[in-house]
Amino acid sequence: MNSHHPETSVAASPCVMVIFGASGDLTKRKLIPALCNLAADNVLPKQFAIVGFATNDYTSESFRQKLSEDIPKYAPLPVDPQLWSWFLERIYYVKGDFADAEAFKRLQQQIATADKEHDCQGNKLFYLAVAPRFFGPITKMLGDTGLLTEDPTHWARVIVEKPFGHDLASAIQLNKDLSQVLTEKQIYRIDHYLGKETVQNVMVFRFSNNIIEPLWNRHYVDHVQITAAETVGVEHRGGFYETAGALRDMVPNHLFQLLTMTAMEPPISFDADEVRNKQAEVLHAIQPLEAEEVLTNMVRGQYGPGMADGARDAGYRAEPDVSPNSNTETFVALKLQIDNWRWAGVPFYLRTGKALAQRTTEIVIQFRRTPFVLFRNTTVKNLETNRLVIHIQPDEGISLSLGAKVPGALMKLGLVNMDFDYKTYFGAEHNTGYERLLRDCMAGDPTLFQRSDMVEAGWSVIQPILDVWHALPARGFPNYAAGSWGPAEAEDLLARDGRAWHRTDQDLMEQRNRIALMDKTGVT
Ligand code: BG6
Repeated sequence: MNSHHPETSVAASPCVMVIFGASGDLTKRKLIPALCNLAADNVLPKQFAIVGFATNDYTSESFRQKLSEDIPKYAPLPVDPQLWSWFLERIYYVKGDFADAEAFKRLQQQIATADKEHDCQGNKLFYLAVAPRFFGPITKMLGDTGLLTEDPTHWARVIVEKPFGHDLASAIQLNKDLSQVLTEKQIYRIDHYLGKETVQNVMVFRFSNNIIEPLWNRHYVDHVQITAAETVGVEHRGGFYETAGALRDMVPNHLFQLLTMTAMEPPISFDADEVRNKQAEVLHAIQPLEAEEVLTNMVRGQYGPGMADGARDAGYRAEPDVSPNSNTETFVALKLQIDNWRWAGVPFYLRTGKALAQRTTEIVIQFRRTPFVLFRNTTVKNLETNRLVIHIQPDEGISLSLGAKVPGALMKLGLVNMDFDYKTYFGAEHNTGYERLLRDCMAGDPTLFQRSDMVEAGWSVIQPILDVWHALPARGFPNYAAGSWGPAEAEDLLARDGRAWHRTDQDLMEQRNRIALMDKTGVT
C-alpha cells in the first residue's frame, strides 16, 4: 500500500474506539476500511480495540461476521487475511438504545474488558456516526456514565460527524450541549474533505512555493471558482436530503473548507490553533449577504428528468422518500466577497449540485489579463488568461495554463497546460479519506477538525440565505435537467460579470478545436 501520511512527531496512542451507529453505512464503507488501511500501514496502535454500539440485534460474534462480509465489498484494496483476523480479534459489539442508561453501563463494562484484553491504557475514542439528533443525548449519557472523564494519563475524545446543526441557532445550541460534558479540546468535528490529500496540499502548495504566494492576491487574481459537482442524485438519502438541501449539505462545511484553505493568510506554524485561527479569519471576513444580494448572488436549482451518469434519471421529485412537490434545492451557486486586504474586490464563485454533467471537485484560480499592447499589430485578437486549477477529485492534481505561441510563421497564441498528476508522481492512493483524520484524533492533533467558532462563523454566512429562502420559497423547480451543468441562472451569475465557469473537458476540446482552426485558417 502506498500511503502518504505526513510524518508527525506524535504517534497515535493506544485506545478503545467506540462507534455509535456501528451497523450503519459509514462504518462499513469508510471507518472499518480506513482502520484496516492504517493497520496495513503500521500506523494504527497495536494496543487497540473497537466496540460497536447500535440498536441492531448483533452479538460481538455476529457483528464480526457481518463486517467480514462487508469488508471485501468496501475496502479499496483486498485486506490481507492475517491482518483481518488480527483486526477481528479486537472487535466487540454492544446492543442498546442511545437513551438507555443500562445500555451505557453495559458499554462501560465492554470498554473495560476490551481495554484490559488489548492493553488500551484507558484511552477512549467515541465516534458519533449517528443522526445529529443523537449527538447531544449520547454525549450526555457518556458524561453521566463517567466515560468522558480525563486525567493526565488517560484521554477521552469524541468525533462528531456532520451535519453540525441545520442553521446558526442549532449549531450554537449543539456547541452548548457538547460543552456541558466535554471541553473543546475533547471535541473533534470531522469534515471528510479535510482528509482528502489534495485539500491538505492546497496549504503546502501555497506556502512552500515562493513563485505562488506572491501572486495569490487581488493584484493578480481576477476571481476564484470552487466547484463540487456530483453525477449521482440523492441515491437512498431522500429522507435526509429533503430536510437538508444542497446548501446545508455541502456549503458551510465542505465548500467552506476549500474556500478557507484557498483564501487563508499564511500561518506561522502548523500548530492546530494557528492554522484554524487563519481559517476562521477568512470566514469572518466574508461579507454577509443582504436580503437583496441573496436574490442576485445566489442561485438554487433542482434536477428534473434527464440522463445522468449514463442512465435515465426521473428527476429529484421521483426519488424515494422525496415529496412529489418538493422545493428542496439539489444545486446551489453563489458569489461571495472576502473583504480583507488580500481579497477585496475578488469574487469567489462557489457551486455544488447533484445529477450534474460530470463528477468533479476543483478550485480554479483565474488570473488577471496581461496588457494587450504588445499584440496590437499582430493577428492575435484575444489574450487568454492564466488559470491554475487544483483538481481534488476524481483525479488529484494541479494544472496551470500558460499562453504559448503556436508553431508557425504567423503570430498565433494557444493555451498550453502544465500538469501535475498526483498518481503519476506518488502512485495511486487507496485511501478512504478517513485514515489521516482518525490517526490525527488518536494522536491528539485537531488541526484538520473544526473548532466551535469556525462552525458558527460558517453558519453565520449561511443564515441570511436560509432566511430569505425560507421567506421566498423556490418557484419553477425543477429547473435543470439531470445530467446538465445546472440551471441557466448559474451561468448568468458569472456571465453578468463577464466571466464563465471553468469546464475541464469542454475547455480542452474547445482549445484543441481552436488551435486546429487557427492552423487551417491562419486566424487567431
Ligand atoms: C457528504 C454529503 O457530506 O459529502 C453528500 O452529505 C455528498 O451529499 C458527499 O455526496 C460528497 O463527498 P465526496 O467525498 O464524494 O465529494
